[in-house]
Amino acid sequence: MPLHRLRSLDLGVADPLAQAAFHTEMGLTSGDGSLFDSPDGGTQIRLSQHPFRRLLRVDLGVDDESDLADISRRLSDLGAPHTVESGVLRCVEPHTRIEFRVEPVARLVQTPSTAHPYNAPGHSPRVDRRSPGVFPGARSPRRLGHIVVATPSWRATRSFMLDGLGFKVSDEFTDIIAFLRCSSDHHNVAIVNGEVPYLQHYSWECDDVDHVGHLATKLLAVDAERHTWGFGRHFIGSNFMWYLRDPSGSFVEFYSDMDRIEDDVAWETTGRTAVGLENVGLAWGPSMPMEFIVPKDIDVLRAGWAAWGS
Ligand SMILES: [Fe+2]
Repeated sequence: MPLHRLRSLDLGVADPLAQAAFHTEMGLTSGDGSLFDSPDGGTQIRLSQHPFRRLLRVDLGVDDESDLADISRRLSDLGAPHTVESGVLRCVEPHTRIEFRVEPVARLVQTPSTAHPYNAPGHSPRVDRRSPGVFPGARSPRRLGHIVVATPSWRATRSFMLDGLGFKVSDEFTDIIAFLRCSSDHHNVAIVNGEVPYLQHYSWECDDVDHVGHLATKLLAVDAERHTWGFGRHFIGSNFMWYLRDPSGSFVEFYSDMDRIEDDVAWETTGRTAVGLENVGLAWGPSMPMEFIVPKDIDVLRAGWAAWGS
């Protein structure tokens, strides 16, 4: 797989100031109020004004220009228009109108988290002191991990991502949702069947379950109405999760302990256990809310795409 990294997103939102305030609250840093950095991922969000919320662009990383040539060949085979100029490949997925930019960048290197000592029956590595998990600590998420994108042409978008850009399938339910990876994360981009294109959620890696809990709790202390879904654990990807709604209407997930895939054969033969549709959302936790399937602002999105030229 030529790809190795999901780098950043360009988000178009109706109210960039409110969105910027939210990203600052969640711990991202910014010098100018439009570019937002995470500690591990560098610049991960670029904000701009748009009449309705829309994922405008996704940046991906490869190792070198031979990888760009490989992706260019794949896109040509699909008949997908694209350019390669000054070491950057640009293309647009035609059904979501998302621009993808691919360029050679360094691979992601993360400082390892310090694991908390967890007491359990018959095993007590922590005695005579409180758990470090009860203290907030550093609370910005480590990096952008994945996005989920709704598309009205599920099979075509899936083909563009796999056959064109070179993503791999980790789990999928035909015509419903496909979890795709461009790194060792179980998924970096998932595509879900939707009436119109929209960013269903974007997700941030945390150190551990306490980090997820402290971060979500801090944001809910400001506005409890942000809560959308959680706390729980996904079956697909195995990650702990907690979802909030950002000012634009997109869901933001904080997660930890996602499955990692480094050996494709091992994943397919022993890691990827059979899973039913009832497990798509959840291993345990509160039931998936309806707005996770049909967002509350679907009328705004529908009108936006109609006016903008779908
Ligand atoms: Fe997610």
